[in-house]
Amino acid sequence: MSIIIVFQSKHGSTEKAAWELQKRIDQDIYIHDLSKNKKINLHKADMVILGASIHAGKIQKRMRTLMETKKDQLLEKPLALYLCCMETGEKAREQFENNFPQPLREHAVATGLFGGAFDFTKMNFFEKSIVKKVAGVSESVSNFDENAIEKFSQTINAVLKGQPTD
Ligand SMILES: Cc1cc2nc3c(=O)[nH]c(=O)nc-3n(C[C@H](O)[C@H](O)[C@H](O)COP(=O)(O)O)c2cc1C
Repeated sequence: MSIIIVFQSKHGSTEKAAWELQKRIDQDIYIHDLSKNKKINLHKADMVILGASIHAGKIQKRMRTLMETKKDQLLEKPLALYLCCMETGEKAREQFENNFPQPLREHAVATGLFGGAFDFTKMNFFEKSIVKKVAGVSESVSNFDENAIEKFSQTINAVLKGQPTD
């Protein structure tokens, strides 16, 4: 079984989540950063995990394009989806639903909301002003959710063992 995690990350949360998943899932995992290389071959993967983050309500363009152009392939094999964002609860779920197409969401064996971080050391001037204005935050803060990552990994490990998932 070969598993690929394909992610896009602006300031590192979604990437950090990919490495956390690699540690926790009992299988060899190849990690592909879509920002560094937009060409991706999914044919050899038996399972695909897609991770993206929200900026001004939307996930990254390359991830949106990948989900459109490779939809049929993604629907052919086990798929898992995760999102990093700073909204929580219903608003986070809404952003997840608005950004991952319904057929993929329905097909997914696991979905996860992993929280995120406002990292002022990595933001440019423009991003800092938006975050200050919209979120009312002016220093770095994190709600990166390791428990959600653990739960998501356990679901995938159960799928790999052919065990039932909740
Ligand atoms: C300019 C900017 C806009 C953002 N907009 C949103 C947003 O609309 N909704 C949200 O939940 N989080 C928003 N966030 C928070 C990010 O989703 C959060 O920083 C996440 O950890 C980013 O993950 P990444 O570093 O992997 O890209 C925003 C962050 C920045 C810097």
